[in-house]
Amino acid sequence: MIAKIGILTISDRASAGIYEDKGGPAIQEYLTEILTTLWEPVYRVIADDQPTIESALQQMADEDHCSLIVTTGGTGPAKRDVTPEATLAVCQKEMPGFGELMRKVSLEKVPTAILSRQTAGIRGKCLIVNLPGQPKAIRECLGAVFPAIPYCLDLIGAAYLETNPDVLTAFRPMKK
Ligand code: MTE
Repeated sequence: MIAKIGILTISDRASAGIYEDKGGPAIQEYLTEILTTLWEPVYRVIADDQPTIESALQQMADEDHCSLIVTTGGTGPAKRDVTPEATLAVCQKEMPGFGELMRKVSLEKVPTAILSRQTAGIRGKCLIVNLPGQPKAIRECLGAVFPAIPYCLDLIGAAYLETNPDVLTAFRPMKK
């Protein structure tokens, strides 16, 4: 079965067509570069509205059977930034290490990285990871956490992902 990966852009302006979504295509491009496993994107652009975000995440996880969903946008302190709240509302488990590592690497690039409340969590057999809305944050953040994602998917019974070791090595601890 082809692995499905959700790419969810969360932005009032991109969803209203005021500007073109740059984050979603950047995520797709990065995943195409690092993954050797056959995969299929499930791509949506939606507004910064908590019920809308929750139902998009639920649909991608439960009906589209995405093994991984990568969101971009809505992680900051502004009133309409509610992506982390929506993510945690639909997850059974939070995975705080993802946000910790992404903020650590991002702080080496921009002092405002501290403003992102990005997190990650598990819904059933799906891992949901938040990225900030800045397109350049995508490589910085996803590149930092991706080495642990294939093993996380193994542990939750999701799709088996393999990466191109010339670009990024997935770390799978030796089986006992
Ligand atoms: N992380 C990285 N790697 N690069 C960035 O440019 N921008 C920061 C932060 N994290 C940034 C980053 C800024 S300016 C904000 S306000 C927060 O992410 C939240 O962004 P969001 O609301 O678009 O998700």
